[in-house]
Amino acid sequence: MKTISTEKHPIYIGNDSVSELNNFLFADNYSSVFILVDENTKKHCLTKINKDIPLLKKAKIISIKSGEKNKNFKTCVKIWTELLKQNADRRSLLINLGGGMISDIGGFAASTFKRGIDFINIPTTLLAQTDASSGGKTGVDFNEYKNQIGTFAFPKAVFIIPSFLKTLDKRQLLSGFAEVLKHALVADRNYWKKISTTSLPLWEKGARDEVWEEIISRSIQIKNEIVSKDPYENGLRKALNFGHTIGHAIESLSLRKDKKHLLHGEAIAIGMMCESYLSRKYCGLPSKEMEEINSFILSVFNPKPIKHSTQTLLAMMKQDKKNRDSEINFTLLSSSGKAEINNSCSEELIEEAIKFFNSLLA
Ligand SMILES: NC(=O)c1ccc[n+]([C@@H]2O[C@H](COP(=O)([O-])OP(=O)(O)OC[C@H]3O[C@@H](n4cnc5c(N)ncnc54)[C@H](O)[C@@H]3O)[C@@H](O)[C@H]2O)c1
Ligand SMILES: [Zn+2]
Repeated sequence: MKTISTEKHPIYIGNDSVSELNNFLFADNYSSVFILVDENTKKHCLTKINKDIPLLKKAKIISIKSGEKNKNFKTCVKIWTELLKQNADRRSLLINLGGGMISDIGGFAASTFKRGIDFINIPTTLLAQTDASSGGKTGVDFNEYKNQIGTFAFPKAVFIIPSFLKTLDKRQLLSGFAEVLKHALVADRNYWKKISTTSLPLWEKGARDEVWEEIISRSIQIKNEIVSKDPYENGLRKALNFGHTIGHAIESLSLRKDKKHLLHGEAIAIGMMCESYLSRKYCGLPSKEMEEINSFILSVFNPKPIKHSTQTLLAMMKQDKKNRDSEINFTLLSSSGKAEINNSCSEELIEEAIKFFNSLLA
């Protein structure tokens, strides 16, 4: 097991982190314990946790419907109602057992219930294990814009059990892999070279837990180094937003319009390709590096062309929380491995970036 001690909370990585979870529950005298799950984590993850940790057998289960479309106030009200009904008090603990949807909404519900109760995260998707479960951002989507209402609130601890990934399908694994690529691109050139040249089909079933453990640890180290210097995103932390300005706009539109909508990581992969083009124009990202980024993402994600008009996309981007003074804010790259924050790009160039992306798929 690896332990990463961040300023705000410890993160335990490895299948044996269940023993740390056991210690944690013994040490803290909570008045009651609640476990938040969706129908998939209830089926695939809850039994395992209950078997390994008998203390949890008495925990009360709050089950919500899976999917980004349910990361909203209606679901939050359901969580608060259950907590109230089952007499949760300020000494209660909420365990978020699930992907980023569960840790985002569970963290938000916990951080606001009776002015805040403790919560811990047990992430069960690659995306949540490498990214969403640590770093202290919680929230829900509002009026179909991503993460508009939320808090900075840190879990008491994060317990990462790679074996949970065994029941995750390839599409979901790939979605998480997009955030892994982002971590490498914003902070670690050698790591980017390594993962973009090893042709290991990591997302195929059967990747060993130790391989995942290594990838998860590197992502968390990178994220933690950045977050610890700027936990409330006043500057440096924006590095982690590479691919997310265009990516979030595409994700929100897909949630509104597509029957089978894009997953977060799939949208971010497209966002990173478009923003690599902007990086070349604004931050001097060498053409060769831009091409490497785009051809690797293309080969792994096989994205579809962007069909929305630029005006529609721009309108979505203008709602982004990262903006200031109504300018659209981008985190770009000056090289693969180095992020540059606070770039505002002209609308013409954003349109050019989208056309460029579409031309790569033609
Ligand atoms: N707070 C942050 O810092 C942060 C960072 C990145 C992303 N996010 C957010 O995270 C969310 C995406 O997270 P996600 O990709 O984990 O999605 P998710 O939580 O919706 O999970 C994806 C799907 O996998 C299922 N699932 C979860 N664990 C499983 C398992 N072990 N086996 C089988 N099925 C399982 C879920 O039920 C769901 O259907 C987005 O809302 C995104 O905005 C937050
Ligand atoms: Zn993301």
